Amino acid sequence: MRIIQVHSYDDLSRDAADMVMLQISRKPWSLCVFPTGQTPRGLFCELVHAHHTGLADFSRVRFVSLDEYAGIAHDDRRCLSLWLGRELLQPLGISEDRIYTFDAASTDPGAESARIEKVIADCGGIDLAIVGLGPNGHVGFNEPGSAFDCRTRLVALARESIRSNTAYWGSEADVPRFAFTLGLGTLLDSRTLILMASGSHKAGILSRMIKGPVTPAVPATVLRLHPEGIVIADREAMSFCHYR
Ligand code: PGA
Repeated sequence: MRIIQVHSYDDLSRDAADMVMLQISRKPWSLCVFPTGQTPRGLFCELVHAHHTGLADFSRVRFVSLDEYAGIAHDDRRCLSLWLGRELLQPLGISEDRIYTFDAASTDPGAESARIEKVIADCGGIDLAIVGLGPNGHVGFNEPGSAFDCRTRLVALARESIRSNTAYWGSEADVPRFAFTLGLGTLLDSRTLILMASGSHKAGILSRMIKGPVTPAVPATVLRLHPEGIVIADREAMSFCHYR
């Protein structure tokens, strides 16, 4: 696993955008995974800016969802695919036929999870997956205890994830209890896997991820098993790691 420490959140966003653009320039039809959350917002702004200024061409990029709440309507305000559509996919001009998302309202979670695994296989695998770091070490919605070889599936959200997701939706009662997520094994199969972390509130969990034991108790440690695993983090997030 490669660790890239940058000075600030702006540097983090710019460097991550450069990595995405490098990937797209090498393989314009790359299948990519992007997370929702606060962390990638600056990255999305950088990519949209690059699109508008003609620095990068995203017209052939393909996108598959990292995760999605389950048991909500397609037009629910909490739908993560709508969030990504609004903030990234529509501004980049990625056409609908290149976007593969979970059906949040699916009543057959097993079939829905298998469908997304098949989409990924039919696309030739994920080229670039970018993920965030949950306060409990989750990646996507792979909560502590998830096996490193687990595949795409429906999961129950951990208490800490419900709490942290209130930042997006208001109160705990507003946070759905179940979600679809790409599995850790599915993410491990990605050609490149990048984790972004920013801010002092991530310092504790990031140091466990980088320096602690590789264990399903901290799902993000799966990156240490990936030959092309990259952590990109700002100084505040790295403050417990003492890397320079
Ligand atoms: P954040 O979320 O980017 O809003 O910190 C990360 C996560 O919970 O995976």
